Amino acid sequence: MKKSVIFVFLLSTMFSWSQSVDSLKVEQEKMQWFKDAKLGVFIHWGLYAVNGIDESWSFYNGYISHKNYLKQTKGFTAKDYNPEAWAKLIKNSGAKYSVITSKHHDGFALWDTKYGNFNSVDAATSKKDVLTPFVTALRKNDLKVGIYYSLPDWTYNDYTNFTRDSIRYKIQDEPKRWKKFLNYYQGQLKELSDNYNPDLYWFDGDWEHNSEEWQAPQVRKMLLDKNPNTILNSRLREHGDYATPEQGMPITRPKSKYWELCMTINDSWGYQKNDHNYKTTNQIIGIFADVIGNGGNLLLDIGPKGDGSIPKEQVEVLEGLGKWTSKHKEAIYGTVAGIPKEHFYGPSTLSKDKTMLYLFVKGDPKGEVVIRGLKNKINRIWVVGNGTKLSHKVVGSVYWSHYPGIKYIQVPEYVLDDEMTVIAVLLDGKVDLYREDGAVIESN
Ligand code: GLC
Repeated sequence: MKKSVIFVFLLSTMFSWSQSVDSLKVEQEKMQWFKDAKLGVFIHWGLYAVNGIDESWSFYNGYISHKNYLKQTKGFTAKDYNPEAWAKLIKNSGAKYSVITSKHHDGFALWDTKYGNFNSVDAATSKKDVLTPFVTALRKNDLKVGIYYSLPDWTYNDYTNFTRDSIRYKIQDEPKRWKKFLNYYQGQLKELSDNYNPDLYWFDGDWEHNSEEWQAPQVRKMLLDKNPNTILNSRLREHGDYATPEQGMPITRPKSKYWELCMTINDSWGYQKNDHNYKTTNQIIGIFADVIGNGGNLLLDIGPKGDGSIPKEQVEVLEGLGKWTSKHKEAIYGTVAGIPKEHFYGPSTLSKDKTMLYLFVKGDPKGEVVIRGLKNKINRIWVVGNGTKLSHKVVGSVYWSHYPGIKYIQVPEYVLDDEMTVIAVLLDGKVDLYREDGAVIESN
């Protein structure tokens, strides 16, 4: 090969390498607020709250006819809707962002869309755009704005699917009709992007068509051209930025670098009068600690009623959560995933520089909390949000072995938090864990 050819080759490799380093940097920068935020509040608000039935699925699955489902527009009054109070409640819970259903699979839009008239302005008693004032209130309270948008629209006449056993048409039979739907849904997305410039888009329902059919890459491009810093969840046929496990806290640490567990506050996404199976504040705090200890975010869902009020049980959980998150701020926001469970039998987080370890202790440890195989020296230990300094003892370390022993931290009962106690452990440097097999005698 000629020298000049090699030179050009090297130059172009270096160029594309530096380009990919650049795009990684951009990705990391735009994901940073999300990674640091830890807690978001999800809101499912729509017609389904009126009867208190499954969001959209109730007619799709045949529990109610589509005709009767639509009658709920009458009860969707939004008369007690107070977007400012919603935003305050979210802010006080300790959440840093909120994601609201601008349109669920039933196709009912919460804003004044120019595409069709099935929305809260033209089709319901509310007679007003209920999305815009909420977005304004979020921004006023310094909260990031997330917009949930369902790709399927089961009410729209030119969408393929209608109910579980009736499909309107197949794309290959009526490509022009599908094109009409694409214009419609992408037009709505453009409106959302022009009106609200969301920090995050939360897609849903991508399973009904493949990436090519949805034109997923084009949609991604359209939204990012408008705002390169916006974040997309993964439910756009993998053309998104982060994974969205649903309902169950993953048992093993998820592999994705960015993830968010979405979870209902009881068993329903939208308001259901008959669902009394609320998780307790204590359980939610426990799950939240598990999530952040594994490097994820929790997107906790609430379901306001058709009149816009938020059920008292839901308000209470958010307030209880807020009390705990504000006391334990430093162990939550801006931290990274903690140490593996073998070292501490519970959730933990680390400061970004990994010199501070936060241990989350549920209930009463009856005297001692145990850390195994921590090579660092501990400089200081205290109770987060309380300040009491704690002492510790090292047991089982011997001079001839790398094995660092077991550290016992004495925790008196009077420093315990009602929900979950957090202990801050200041290390002598970056966390360093003993991961060897623990041979009986270590040579050299
Ligand atoms: C599922 C459900 C949908 C709900 C969503 C929230 O995809 O189909 O109704 O809105 O989960 O994550």
